[in-house]
Amino acid sequence: MPVTLSQFAQNLNVETAFTVLAVAKQLKAAGKDVVELEIGDSPFPSTAHAKQAGEQAIRDDQSHYCPSPGLPEFRTAAAKFVKDEFAIPATAANVVVGPGAKIFQQFFCEAFLNPGDGALVFSPHFPTFLPNIERRGARAVLAPLRQQAEFRPEVSQIEHFLKTDPAPRAIFLNSPHNPTGGVATADDLAQIANLIRGRNIALFSDEPYCHMVWKGRHHSILEQPGMLDQCVAAYTFSKSYSMSGWRLGFAVSSPAITDAIGKMINTCLSCVPPIVQLAGAAALGRDREERDRVMGLFRDKVVLLTNGLNRIEGFKTLEPTATFYVFPNVAPVCNRLGITSHGLALYLLEGADEHFGVACLGGECFGEAGAGFLRFSCAEPNDRLQMAIDFLPLALSRTERVATYLAKNPRFRLAKPYPVA
Ligand SMILES: Cc1ncc(COP(=O)(O)O)c(C=O)c1O
Repeated sequence: MPVTLSQFAQNLNVETAFTVLAVAKQLKAAGKDVVELEIGDSPFPSTAHAKQAGEQAIRDDQSHYCPSPGLPEFRTAAAKFVKDEFAIPATAANVVVGPGAKIFQQFFCEAFLNPGDGALVFSPHFPTFLPNIERRGARAVLAPLRQQAEFRPEVSQIEHFLKTDPAPRAIFLNSPHNPTGGVATADDLAQIANLIRGRNIALFSDEPYCHMVWKGRHHSILEQPGMLDQCVAAYTFSKSYSMSGWRLGFAVSSPAITDAIGKMINTCLSCVPPIVQLAGAAALGRDREERDRVMGLFRDKVVLLTNGLNRIEGFKTLEPTATFYVFPNVAPVCNRLGITSHGLALYLLEGADEHFGVACLGGECFGEAGAGFLRFSCAEPNDRLQMAIDFLPLALSRTERVATYLAKNPRFRLAKPYPVA
């Protein structure tokens, strides 16, 4: 290649779920039966009024450029939604639309981070937080989320970051949390708001799982006084309305910040397709009942998977609190088999059986703090989840197959046992 890739491009870490997805699809194409629990997608159809409105928008020729921050009717519908459901005092000017929630990680970093700035990230973490921080030449500062603390962000870690970092500038929160399912309580959020209020600290609040809270209701830090002025909260249609392929989400913040993000959209995307925005506005207005029914089905799946996994020796999962992920600690199993947790995940997919496999992710796909855990999503019908649960003890008992897999893939040999709580 005659041209050199930038250091950023050479070192870019991506979401491993998509890499494992590609392997799973390849194995399926070759005839293997794979239960796919690697990617956080919904097995359900997009909600009905969203689809109808999308079709109508095509027939109405809503197929031209539109304002970069979003269609006025979309922004109004999104503001009403966060106000009604999460008590966030938003109006249309507080909303900016995007193709999903993920892009707002990049826009947030572009809005607030300069080279050398420190950004606190609780880890395990969503994999794309770090590349977006690095894109700005800023520094990710990792703070651990612990199973003993129910994977809640510990306020003392934020205090420590603000006191000790040479240039503290931003905090990434993700509640409900992927991959752990942890939830920051209303009290945690009030304490965090009190710590940052009025200081030059911006906070990114990633909230894609706002309708997947299995105890109580979702709380956003934007409910707290003054937080609209220094936080950007990101929401998506991917999970709540099963619309991941439509690519639609939005952010809520102060008008000055949404205006700045609107300019960023102008420079790279021009706008989000109006067809998609009209489908989203219809989902917000008319699909609440269907959404809540589907969320109930996800809850049942999480309970099924949690209970099933907890019956396997060496697996330990917390009671389900949120999201459609189950994140068991499997350190004793990894230690016994001498395999890393991501090695174990890929063994279950590729090595444990000729005809059947389970696709999931090792916790280290979400940073070193996730090592010793597995992440399962619930993206398959319940009978298939049960098949996966039944397969695991059998797969783990096939020690000769583990040895063969490790001989072929020595990078997955566990160098040092994981700590066991
Ligand atoms: C924590 C977190 N943030 C962002 C996203 C991205 O969602 P979207 O499809 O809206 O871009 C996901 C999707 O899995 C997620 O889990």
